[in-house]
Amino acid sequence: MTILSDQLQLAPAELDSYWMPFTANRQFKAAPRMLVKAEGMYYWTAHGRRILDGFAGLWCCNAGHCRKPIVEAIQKQAATMDYAPAFQMGHPLAFELSNRIVELAPGKLDHTFFCNSGSEAVDSALKIALAWHRVRGEGSRTRLIGRERGYHGVGFGGISVGGIAANRKMFGTMLTGVDHLAHTHNLEKNAYSKGQPEWGAQLADELERLVVLHDASTIAAVIVEPVAGSTGVLIPPKGYLQRLREITKKHGILLIFDEVITAFGRLGAAFGADVYGVEPDMITFAKGVTSGTVPMGGVLVSSDIYHAFMSGPPGAIELFHGYTYSAHPLACAAGIATLQLYEDEGLFARAARMAPAFERALHSLKGARHVVDIRNQGLVGGIELAPRAGSPGARGFEAYLRCYEKNVLVRSTGDILAVAPALIVEETQLDQIVSTIREVLTALE
Ligand SMILES: Cc1ncc(COP(=O)(O)O)c(C=O)c1O
Repeated sequence: MTILSDQLQLAPAELDSYWMPFTANRQFKAAPRMLVKAEGMYYWTAHGRRILDGFAGLWCCNAGHCRKPIVEAIQKQAATMDYAPAFQMGHPLAFELSNRIVELAPGKLDHTFFCNSGSEAVDSALKIALAWHRVRGEGSRTRLIGRERGYHGVGFGGISVGGIAANRKMFGTMLTGVDHLAHTHNLEKNAYSKGQPEWGAQLADELERLVVLHDASTIAAVIVEPVAGSTGVLIPPKGYLQRLREITKKHGILLIFDEVITAFGRLGAAFGADVYGVEPDMITFAKGVTSGTVPMGGVLVSSDIYHAFMSGPPGAIELFHGYTYSAHPLACAAGIATLQLYEDEGLFARAARMAPAFERALHSLKGARHVVDIRNQGLVGGIELAPRAGSPGARGFEAYLRCYEKNVLVRSTGDILAVAPALIVEETQLDQIVSTIREVLTALE
């Protein structure tokens, strides 16, 4: 590896100024883990070690790393037109990408609003929900409902409807008028479920309780991840999402699926909505839309929602919302090339074909030291470890570090190891991921 020279090693002082996100900065800077190159299923470290990426970067590089058609599209676009103003001006790639996404999207979801991340997608969707009720004359619908253990990014909207205490507790009162459904995780009932757990559909009925408490006329939207990812891979119980759809529809409440992780093949189809046969009113997406190459996010909305805004004088701006980098040309070029690559290589279908092998590989860890649950859907899986007494999360993090030392990248969230390889993963690579995890757990206290 010629490019991995010593000059890529930074001195401790050079590590100081960058405040790293969601990272134990002092711990990291004492023993940095630096990646300097990527290709296909692999990363390379600054020391020249090749790391098998069992996590598609951060659930995003679904096509694998540095894929040539995507790289070339970005390079070409950067040299052709670096940027075009997003407001009151357009560029063709934005429309082309929207059309392509809409072609993939379920049912009536046929308009796209672009932004730059999952967090922005969530805040955009929540704002669209509030504004939609208002333009229809139901401005009293201001309440938003999320779910315990939900992760919807880090904007104030996202942390308000999110349900992870660590992400919320430092940040004051957040949005007011938010309530939460119970999460669906239940080890006693559902441990070692393959695919969707049998128990738990009735947890959706809690929405009826919230409707009784607040009255439907005050509730704008419910937002859930079809599969809750960042909280440790919680697969929806059979019938649960259907029930949420029925109840929201009955009460005129919008249903938003946050598919930042689940869209673009992760579950073996274009969207989680397809896998579960439930059509929400909006879908948020990010990550896989550009296979992680250029930041991009967006919201798919139904035609009903879009057209409700298209009233009033034609010269009036219909939605006072947007970002300087909405539909950035580089992101659009990357997105179009990514969707083309997904299609050319049939990667969503490939993920579905690989899912049984993934399930077998993951569940072979049943009985391994510390493991208390394994769950999976498509190419996403969670391995839950018993927490170390008095030190929740420590065992999970140590397992993650040791896997990395053994050249396999997974992710830990609390004491849960999450696995989500690119859709190009081979069975031998799945075997390597699982045997590394087993080895690590056997030696881990
Ligand atoms: C479901 C979900 N929503 C939102 C986000 C936030 O995305 P971003 O980090 O791009 O802001 C994430 C990130 O993992 C996510 O998993």
